[in-house]
Amino acid sequence: MKIKSVRGTHDILPKDVAVWHTIERTTRELFKLYGYSELRTPIFEDTELFSRSIGMGTDIVQKEMYTFNQNKNKTVSLRPEGTAPVVRAYIEHALHRQTTVNKFYYIGPMFRRERPQKGRYRQFHQIGVEVLGSDAPALEGEVIEMLHRLMEQLGLRQFELLVNSVGCTTCRPYYIDTLRQNINKTKTSFCPDCQNRFKNNPLRIFDCKVRSCQPFIENLPPILDHLCSNCQDHLSKLRLYLELLKVPHRLSPRLVRGLDYYVRTTFEITSEYLGPTQNAIAGGGRYDGLSEILGGPRTQGFGFALGMERLIWLLSEKEDSFSLNQSPPPDLFLVYLDESSLELSLKLAQELRGQGVFVYIDFQKKSVKAQMRLANRINARFTCVIGEDEIKSGYFQIKRMEDGQKVTLERATLADFLNPSISPI
Ligand code: HAM
Repeated sequence: MKIKSVRGTHDILPKDVAVWHTIERTTRELFKLYGYSELRTPIFEDTELFSRSIGMGTDIVQKEMYTFNQNKNKTVSLRPEGTAPVVRAYIEHALHRQTTVNKFYYIGPMFRRERPQKGRYRQFHQIGVEVLGSDAPALEGEVIEMLHRLMEQLGLRQFELLVNSVGCTTCRPYYIDTLRQNINKTKTSFCPDCQNRFKNNPLRIFDCKVRSCQPFIENLPPILDHLCSNCQDHLSKLRLYLELLKVPHRLSPRLVRGLDYYVRTTFEITSEYLGPTQNAIAGGGRYDGLSEILGGPRTQGFGFALGMERLIWLLSEKEDSFSLNQSPPPDLFLVYLDESSLELSLKLAQELRGQGVFVYIDFQKKSVKAQMRLANRINARFTCVIGEDEIKSGYFQIKRMEDGQKVTLERATLADFLNPSISPI
């Protein structure tokens, strides 16, 4: 019996990898302009890191983590997200001592045992950003503007930015009381999951997708009406900065997120094309206090993560101008005739690659005609047949595939002629 990839996981085939590279390169170049450095953390961590930060009552911790025994007393889990590991690393290496505001980004796989469907996988990839050490609404504006710019640079046009505040430790407890009192009136009409949320974390009721709950949820008071004056002020300032930076957004009073560490600002970038249940391309918010929860110094935090599979699906299915999918053509295709010409081809290819030229040799011992056909199919820019003359003389006849024009060159001048960053052709 054939062994297949595990449900909810995917191979990224060579024909698709170019898109991933383009997105990763664009991200790195853009984030550098805003002062972010990459931080790479392990794929697995102490389970407790996630239960303490994401929250014991969340779906992620309760049912979606891949957890293994490390020894009798300890379990470890594949990371379901990147914020907690970044904060753990920040504390462990005392990074706050180096500079007051630390700006990190990461790109990598995350793991959640969710029910797989379009846009929802068990291994997926995130581009994430975390800023530690600032509570400034202006910084939030800058981070969100950076995310917005990334979407635009990659060619995504059809998306919406939703912004909300989930209050702070001062105002949220009062709001939760009000919410419980309201829900209590019609509690039995809610689904069993919501009844559980009522006990553990009533805010999460706003995340419920069950149709019969919706009319009741719509009648619940939004948190925006119950924010303390500091939280209100924070949100209005962020919105002013977003306007200043010309980042279109909509206030979404019922936007709560599936992780417990958020205070004040929460936001999401959504697309209607992703469907009603998982329409978020990216999500994030403020998490002041998470560092203390994990045993670190008092530190404010703000960040987001973007789902790469969802982004790529949207770009390739819904955006006309999307053309990141082409793998680059070889600069030179070497056609060989026999064993001695293959040997020279190998040596020449080694030399030219050392000088930045993309050289292709086909090792299938095909006829010259078949090798030329392949060169055509993979769009090689130039070809060179390595025959007896080339072996003896050290001169090479190079053919430009576009128009068949030929030129004879000395070995030492080949690289300059062929290198796409130097060659005038
Ligand atoms: P999150 O909303 O859980 O936030 O995930 C962020 C993004 O990851 C989602 O918007 C979605 O695009 C993608 N994603 C999540 N789960 C899946 C899945 N099963 N399959 C495919 N894509 C998925 C976080 O992870 C927070 N750590 C974000 C953050 C950073 N907040 C502050 N800093």
